Amino acid sequence: MNIDIELPCISDSRGRLIFAEAERHIPFQIKRLYFVTGTKANKPRGFHAHKKLHQAAFCVQGSCRLLLDSGTQKHWTTLSSPSQVALIGPLTWREMHDFTEDCILVVLADDYYDESDYIRDYDEFIALVR
Ligand code: TYD
Repeated sequence: MNIDIELPCISDSRGRLIFAEAERHIPFQIKRLYFVTGTKANKPRGFHAHKKLHQAAFCVQGSCRLLLDSGTQKHWTTLSSPSQVALIGPLTWREMHDFTEDCILVVLADDYYDESDYIRDYDEFIALVR
């Protein structure tokens, strides 16, 4: 998978300013933001899908490798720039691997946290999508 969205970046001698607007650059209303820090290379995360949730993920610092699995196709991508955003739709199994220790992974979501929206069992995910 390629990065789905390249965010606008205003660059000058003072540094870079990258921005995103809901329903313009990010194709949904943002109801929640969370970020993951303190990561370790050998401690992958994710290993779940969502039934309805839409998310947008990017690294504002460091990098990680993102696996997106539709049940029939697997795509790897590297998140390594704050302007590179991966869109993760519903019924997509995701895993994040090979985090750098300085990684700050930011995730935008179109709904509040709801554990009942998670599918945490891969066999259950496969049964649902096939
Ligand atoms: P989880 O989504 O499983 O993290 P990851 O996929 O990165 O491994 O979430 C880890 C824990 O945090 C889990 O107990 C649920 C909780 N959590 C919230 O309470 N609110 C949130 O917005 C998120 C994303 C997770």
